Amino acid sequence: MTENTPSVLLTGGAGYIGSHTFVALAEAGYQPVILDDFSNSHPAVLERLAQLTGRRVPCEKGNVLDTAFVAEVLQRHRCVAAVHFAGVKAVGESVQQPLMYYRNNVSGLLSLLEAMAGTTACRSVVFSSSATVYGNPASVPIDEGFPCAPESPYAQSKLMCENILASLRASDPSWRTGVLRYFNPVGAHPTGLIGEDPSGIPNNLMPFVTQVAVGKRARLQVFGSDYPTPDGTGVRDYLHVSDLADGHVAAVQALLAKGESFTVNLGTGQGTSVLGVVRAFERASGRPIPFEFAPRRAGDVAQYFADVSLARGVLGWRATRGIEEMCRDSWHWQQRNPDGYRTQTSDTAMHMPAPVRNSPNGPMRPVVSA
Ligand code: WQD
Repeated sequence: MTENTPSVLLTGGAGYIGSHTFVALAEAGYQPVILDDFSNSHPAVLERLAQLTGRRVPCEKGNVLDTAFVAEVLQRHRCVAAVHFAGVKAVGESVQQPLMYYRNNVSGLLSLLEAMAGTTACRSVVFSSSATVYGNPASVPIDEGFPCAPESPYAQSKLMCENILASLRASDPSWRTGVLRYFNPVGAHPTGLIGEDPSGIPNNLMPFVTQVAVGKRARLQVFGSDYPTPDGTGVRDYLHVSDLADGHVAAVQALLAKGESFTVNLGTGQGTSVLGVVRAFERASGRPIPFEFAPRRAGDVAQYFADVSLARGVLGWRATRGIEEMCRDSWHWQQRNPDGYRTQTSDTAMHMPAPVRNSPNGPMRPVVSA
């Protein structure tokens, strides 16, 4: 790493997807810079990132809504691009607290863009969107041309952000925006040093399954057994968080190299049912996952998976890790950190894997615009 290593701002970089993207960007030759208020993340992640990457972890504590602060951070680190993760993300909660969702998600993006526009030459931004913008699709696989029909304030807030980025591009073509519509990110870094650390009772399937496996919860409730799917349970496109992180690196590289904006799905293109996840997890962990069938969860759709051809064409990216690997790495993370980042890790140094290095062929060269 040199003084000329290009810096990339990661708002919400201490969170689940942000932290994995930190590692992937560092491996690809960038200097990621975290901006996070730790409202839904834990400062212990910073130490883990330093262990994993073998380098310093620049972190600016603060809220993305503070435009002057964001501008100062962008300037001081001379960022060439920003990846915007910071936001709130629970669909159910967004129905209860819509204003909080619009304030954080929509105003958060506006604040970042105003900070970029007002004070720096940095015009490249990758935005963390969600497949939930498609609502209940007429068919699967879902491609990017499908109509957007958000069904919750959370989904609405993501679509509003996409529209803000489109207006900005139309007003000034020097803006380069990469919108990434994630399907269902799961898994953890294979070392078990970083992973998902939900507070309270997990809403999502995989963290719930891992907590059943480790004995924190008695059994999984499988929501719905009569969907028109092969085994009657809901089908989703689960995506390893390391593949997702690699997708962000590809997005940053594409924006800086080609300068063309894009909106792409990030998924595997493969659907897995709830029972399919349970079976894969049992194989990966060697533990039984007790479950019972429960009524369908309000708002759930039967099946959902991505057409991933555009991401392949535009970014040269595709997911390489399957459901077995996702379950194995989720399990490893859960076992090693039964209480997430609150787990005491006095033995970390002893069991520390070698820091992740760049490939033997030398570091990948980051692509930076002139
Ligand atoms: C997956 C499947 C459930 C829990 C959500 C958001 C989406 C995106 C990803 C951010 C479904 C079933 C779940 C449980 C179960 N997030 N299930 N028992 O709903 O596809 O997507 O997370 O952008 O926006 O909506 O993911 O993990 O909650 O559910 O049977 O205890 O597991 O019914 O079929 P979902 P999920």
